[in-house]
Amino acid sequence: MTQDELFKVLVAHCKEYGFIFPSSEIYDGLAAVYDYGQMGSELKQNIKQYWWNAMTRLNENIVGIDSCIFMHPKIWEASGHVGAFNDPLIDNKDSKKRYRADVLIEDYLGKIEEKINKEVAKGKKKFGESFDEEQFRATNPNVQRELKKYNEVHDRYVAAEKANDLAEYKQIIVDCGIVCPISGTCNWTDVRQFNLMFSTSMGSTAEGANTIYLRPETAQGIFVNYLNVQKTGRMKIPFGIAQIGKAFRNEIVARQFIFRMREFEQMEMQFFIKPGTELDWFKKWKETRMKWHVNLGMGAENYRFHDHEKLAHYANAATDVEFQFPFGFKELEGIHSRTDFDLGNHQKFSGKKIQYFDPETNESYTPYVIETSIGVDRMVLAVLSHSYKEEKLENGESRVVLAIPAPIAPVKAAVMPLVKNNEELVNLAQEIMNDLKFDFNCQYDEKDSIGKRYRRQDAIGTPYCITVDHDSLVDRCVTVRDRDTMTQERIPISELRALIDKKVNLNNLLRNL
Ligand code: GAP
Repeated sequence: MTQDELFKVLVAHCKEYGFIFPSSEIYDGLAAVYDYGQMGSELKQNIKQYWWNAMTRLNENIVGIDSCIFMHPKIWEASGHVGAFNDPLIDNKDSKKRYRADVLIEDYLGKIEEKINKEVAKGKKKFGESFDEEQFRATNPNVQRELKKYNEVHDRYVAAEKANDLAEYKQIIVDCGIVCPISGTCNWTDVRQFNLMFSTSMGSTAEGANTIYLRPETAQGIFVNYLNVQKTGRMKIPFGIAQIGKAFRNEIVARQFIFRMREFEQMEMQFFIKPGTELDWFKKWKETRMKWHVNLGMGAENYRFHDHEKLAHYANAATDVEFQFPFGFKELEGIHSRTDFDLGNHQKFSGKKIQYFDPETNESYTPYVIETSIGVDRMVLAVLSHSYKEEKLENGESRVVLAIPAPIAPVKAAVMPLVKNNEELVNLAQEIMNDLKFDFNCQYDEKDSIGKRYRRQDAIGTPYCITVDHDSLVDRCVTVRDRDTMTQERIPISELRALIDKKVNLNNLLRNL
């Protein structure tokens, strides 16, 4: 199966098993808006809890808030979003489809990278043990040719980005022969800027109504509450404010399922520091955030940093944590050194003094900020795409399993009486269920054969299945089947809670951080 096919299968699986549904589906859906079903919302909650606890429980100097989506419109002028939160868009005149010009170029560069990697893989296969990748990349004519092409386009692209040169974007697209995937033609319009903020009006009468924006990031809700939190919490620099909440962007190209949505959720933390210390804190937060990701056990090799060459209007250093999605390495989280841009501008626009008085040095200053910002939905997609596996079993059958890291799996254990028409078995299974449900999200399942029930639980990623059989009535033991190894173990009912807890307790993950 190609990665493309795998992705389609994953999207269908998410729908079939209650993870993610297209929004407003009975009205044919709404582009790039998705709803989370009974499994997806549990998974999302668990991811949010892992992040929230890692931020606010493990760090005494980080507190959480919950600010509103609607905010004073001046905030978005101060933050630079009204003037600069734009994407370069381009239309294909034949298909009438709209694209982001920068994404077209980046995808083109990605394809060249793929070609180079394929050549390297071929070389590796051919030369085996004696393969010297560095030398191969430096001397192989095919690699050299592709690399030259890559560097030329890349340099032009970076220069165009820096200069905000929209005409050059179009010229690169034309020169590289990038065609519309729908019409197959190179018949492009000029590139134009497009502001991504949604607006609506607030107020009871049309005359008195104010245009306000749906927040495109949660960060500004933190900045405008900086003074409130610092004063009421008696916070001393360095300290952080964390927040989880919805954000909205009118994305031009909203494809790839929940990777790029128009309504999505962010987990953001702004860390307030003394000016001049920002590069040390930037480094520290890069390490801390990577550790949080790798700690989930989805393979360190599936993450990498991508340092920004073009910095956002507010940053003096920035990097992305990229994850290997089915469509390649893509941004999962952004870490930015935002200087005093936001607090400084809010000070200017609001006319209120936003400063920190340092009692040790007796000086006041506008704090600098390191931001960590991750999309909840992208994290859900990272987990689901990494976890989805189709396996051939020894008996010739196959199974689909979601090997979701156990502490964030939606359902932790399924309790099953061997048969449903035996009252004693059913009673004991329900007794176990009623006991375990206070500690874990459990499912009770008595329908179909045990094999079918195992498959259903595998498909939603349940780490443990607990079967109550006739012997259980006598020896008070049950069969516990492990999702990943499929091994079965007979254990006393009294030991169930400890066994499950060892694997699924979120605190065990947090303790490793
Ligand atoms: N406050 C900084 C900020 O918003 P960003 O890089 O634009 O930075 C941060 O966004 C994260 O939010 C991204 O790394 C991504 O995970 C998520 N994100 C951004 N736009 C998104 C979208 N349209 N759909 C889903 N997630 C998105």
